[in-house]
Amino acid sequence: MLNSSMNNNLHKQIKFRHDKAKGHQRYSCAKPRQKCSFVRQDFPRIRILTNKKSSSPSHVPCIIIQNTALDQLIWLSQKGLTGRFQLIYWDPPFFSGKQRTAINGSFNDQWSSLQEYLNFIKEHLVQFVPFLAPTGFFVLHCDYHASHYLKILGDELLGYDNFRNDIIWHYSGRRQKAVVRVNSKHDSLLIWAKSDEARMNPIFDKWDRDYYVRMKKQPVHRDEEGREWIWGHKGKGQSKAYRIYLEEVVAQGRAIDSVWDIPIINTSARERVGYPTQKPLKLMERVVSLLTQPGDWVLDVMAGSGTTGVAAWSLKRPVCLGDSNPEAVAITLARLKQLIT
Ligand SMILES: C[S@@+](CC[C@H](N)C(=O)[O-])C[C@H]1O[C@@H](n2cnc3c(N)ncnc32)[C@H](O)[C@@H]1O
Repeated sequence: MLNSSMNNNLHKQIKFRHDKAKGHQRYSCAKPRQKCSFVRQDFPRIRILTNKKSSSPSHVPCIIIQNTALDQLIWLSQKGLTGRFQLIYWDPPFFSGKQRTAINGSFNDQWSSLQEYLNFIKEHLVQFVPFLAPTGFFVLHCDYHASHYLKILGDELLGYDNFRNDIIWHYSGRRQKAVVRVNSKHDSLLIWAKSDEARMNPIFDKWDRDYYVRMKKQPVHRDEEGREWIWGHKGKGQSKAYRIYLEEVVAQGRAIDSVWDIPIINTSARERVGYPTQKPLKLMERVVSLLTQPGDWVLDVMAGSGTTGVAAWSLKRPVCLGDSNPEAVAITLARLKQLIT
């Protein structure tokens, strides 16, 4: 489907300048003020990379498209990729009412009304659904501006019963004295499955013995071999007690819950590429690891700086990324190319 001549033809379509300035990497189009210089100006504007570092014999492909999300989806359906994606991650504008600007890019998040914004969301949601694999997951990243409306729209299209989690991504940052409302320091990642069959990969956080013992508030015993254990119970109504060996629970770690404490990218972080609302790689690695296996296709049609792509591709997932903003596509391409050179 994506043969090598297509790959070669597409290979030189974009030129980049890649400077370093003040600790930031600066990404821009080759010709300032002109949109990224694609050789082919016809629809759609596409780059295809393969990760040569991959141990997979067929290499892991990465498709990058500069176009509107809806036009990207038309192209994907023409290429027979409907029903193919195990993970569709969508991080659209949040209805913040702002022009989002940073050193290497900007995009508009201003709307004439809430209704206009919700129409935009709904129009896209409807189109995404056919691209999900039968066991796939859809993740909608949003915040307090509209999350309560988006949950309802998602339930209507993907099914209330298919809703799996409202993940709270909690982050730190500068706080101000709260008079009107307290500091808002979280985003929501709303997760729906395509069907009952969809399964996540369990993820565990590290914890140590002392933390676990403090939490359990129980005496620690030692067996004949000196191994530490405490009493465990199967839960209410099931009185049968059993031994929990501390070395085993510590080695396994603690199953994650729906609140994820992951720092935002600080101003001097190497990871920061200067695109507004760039998400931390750690967050996206967790999303990808939780919801996909190596080899599963991942889709992000509003990829911004391409964080989903960096996470997915590094974890050996084939990925399709896109954005209508040439600044975003330039950054995404440069970040992805760094993974193969
Ligand atoms: C919140 S940002 C995504 C940030 C990204 N997750 C990251 O880590 O950098 C939303 C992106 O949607 C893009 N966008 C907005 N409307 C679009 C449309 N109709 N088609 C494609 N991209 C669009 C914007 O250009 C912007 O880059």
